[in-house]
Amino acid sequence: MKHSPITLSTLAQLKVLAALPLSQATAMPPPMYQSADIHALEQTHIFNEQWLCAGRSDAIPQAGDYLSYHIGSQPVLVIRQEDGSIKAFANVCRHRMMTLLDGQGHCKRKRIICPYHAWSYGIDGQLLGAPQMDKRPGFDKANYPLPAIRCELWEGWIYITLNPEVAPVSTLLAELHPLVADYRMADYVLISQQDHVWDTNWKMLAENFMEGYHLPVAHRATVGAHFAVRETRFSERPPNPAFTYQYFTKAENAPVGNAHPDNTWLKGEQRRTSLMPTIFPAHMYVLAPDHLWYLALQPLGHDQVNIRYGIALAPEVLRASAEPEQLKADVIHFLDQVNAEDKDVVEGIFRGSRATLSKAGPLCWLEQENHEFTQYIARRIAHHGSD
Ligand code: FES
Ligand SMILES: [Fe+2]
Repeated sequence: MKHSPITLSTLAQLKVLAALPLSQATAMPPPMYQSADIHALEQTHIFNEQWLCAGRSDAIPQAGDYLSYHIGSQPVLVIRQEDGSIKAFANVCRHRMMTLLDGQGHCKRKRIICPYHAWSYGIDGQLLGAPQMDKRPGFDKANYPLPAIRCELWEGWIYITLNPEVAPVSTLLAELHPLVADYRMADYVLISQQDHVWDTNWKMLAENFMEGYHLPVAHRATVGAHFAVRETRFSERPPNPAFTYQYFTKAENAPVGNAHPDNTWLKGEQRRTSLMPTIFPAHMYVLAPDHLWYLALQPLGHDQVNIRYGIALAPEVLRASAEPEQLKADVIHFLDQVNAEDKDVVEGIFRGSRATLSKAGPLCWLEQENHEFTQYIARRIAHHGSD
């Protein structure tokens, strides 16, 4: 593919930047956020090739429950099967390519019915009905199943990929497993999962989520108040190609973020410690002893991103609550406020990155994950400048 001189020089800068230590690194240069050409490279070499998180498996507990997702221009449906497993399929009709299901919901009578001419599929993707097609000689429904898409579950997360060759999620995240295991995250109960579209580049949102530097400032009215910024700790292992993480602690009197007294398995400091993994490229979460909140990003272009945003609570927190519905509403309201604060800043920096005089500035020690993210992006796309 032929790239413009700006793209070539941006990719060359990215390569140099990725090779620097954090102490000399800057944020990514503005065209990394503003270029449709860079976005196309990311789509091909990142989103079409990597594992992407579609949400929590308990968002679709019953056979026939589904949620939809987009991998670039490919609509995907993720659906709970009769045997309890979860499968993913292309969300496009085999007749004349209508999108089959939108959003999240339940397939009545376990049928996926195309809204155009009513071809109908089972929840296993097999074509079961095709009105009037019996008059077409040789038409065999068995030849038109929905194409299957790789789908794996890991600790309550649903991951999908268009890449038949990428290693299994459990292999890629093997080193992360011992770090999350004590929290028992797979048991956390989802209380809210929402989709929103923000006017920013997906990487700005990812970077925002992976640094605590902004918490005492942009979130001073919410989570920032209880955040001990100097206690942030990063991975001391050699960088892992599939993920990065940091730990942070909450004050013992923080209203959220500490282990519930009924939680007897987390010990000592761990009881007030949250782990914040970023699974490259677009899945990140805060795993606290009492709650979990996450983002799964689907870019809609270089200038817009769909955010799937979810909140789950540790089961003992819900069990012990005298008013669980009120508790859920309060937590959702609180984290919605945090999200609104983030929307302001990530849309603000996106506008800033468009300005003629803007340049990427030096990173702080608290932005270690951001630099690892730069290195990840560089590994995936920088060499395409010299194809
Ligand atoms: S496009 Fe689906 S039935 Fe015609
Ligand atoms: Fe934030």
